[in-house]
Amino acid sequence: MVKYSYFGHACFLLDDGKHKVLVDPFLTGNPVASVSASDVEADYILVTHAHGDHLGDAPDIAARTGAEVVGIPEILDICTSMGADVKGHGMNLGGSLNLPFGKVRMTLAQHSSGVPGGIACGYVIYIGGLVIYYAGDTALFSDMKLIGQKDKLDYALLPIGDNYTMGLEDAALAAQWLGVRHVIPLHYDTWPIIRQDVAKYKELTEKMAHAEVHIVKPGEAIDLA
Ligand code: NI
Ligand code: MN
Repeated sequence: MVKYSYFGHACFLLDDGKHKVLVDPFLTGNPVASVSASDVEADYILVTHAHGDHLGDAPDIAARTGAEVVGIPEILDICTSMGADVKGHGMNLGGSLNLPFGKVRMTLAQHSSGVPGGIACGYVIYIGGLVIYYAGDTALFSDMKLIGQKDKLDYALLPIGDNYTMGLEDAALAAQWLGVRHVIPLHYDTWPIIRQDVAKYKELTEKMAHAEVHIVKPGEAIDLA
């Protein structure tokens, strides 16, 4: 069993009972953050891109906890250039990395990266016997079908806020194309520009895809199984 804790916007923690995997830790300045950067624990920090609402507090949290930061090399350079003593592992699209809890594979995302020469990504995370796809910030793209073909996905964590990423309808179609069993929406309601009717997303997705949508609010946690 894996515990999913949602800290608001696109920041969440996966915990298999032994390892804590923190993702896109934007907490300082996040109006809906349910935990502070100085309190959150992590063994690994996955970063999808260098926009402030994703890279966020990663350098500080890594320096304090000793967590290893996983991201594209351009992002790791930002972390180390901030003077923080950060352990980092650089990887790039299509690559997999074995870690003590399982494995992560870096996947394509259609989004700007926030760093010169960089690219934005998503991750397929293998942890606790589950396969969890986090799309990061992205538009809908047809290669999501390949991601779903390559791995039998248990969960997809998808942005639904629109404006910067997919909106409701594209994120519902993403769930269909991924062929995933469970969907958790994120990256919405942080600011007025990405306010969404999440109940409508659930209804739409459960109609269009054979997936159950779990609405998790900032500060809440659910067990993934
Ligand atoms: Ni972004
Ligand atoms: Mn974002």
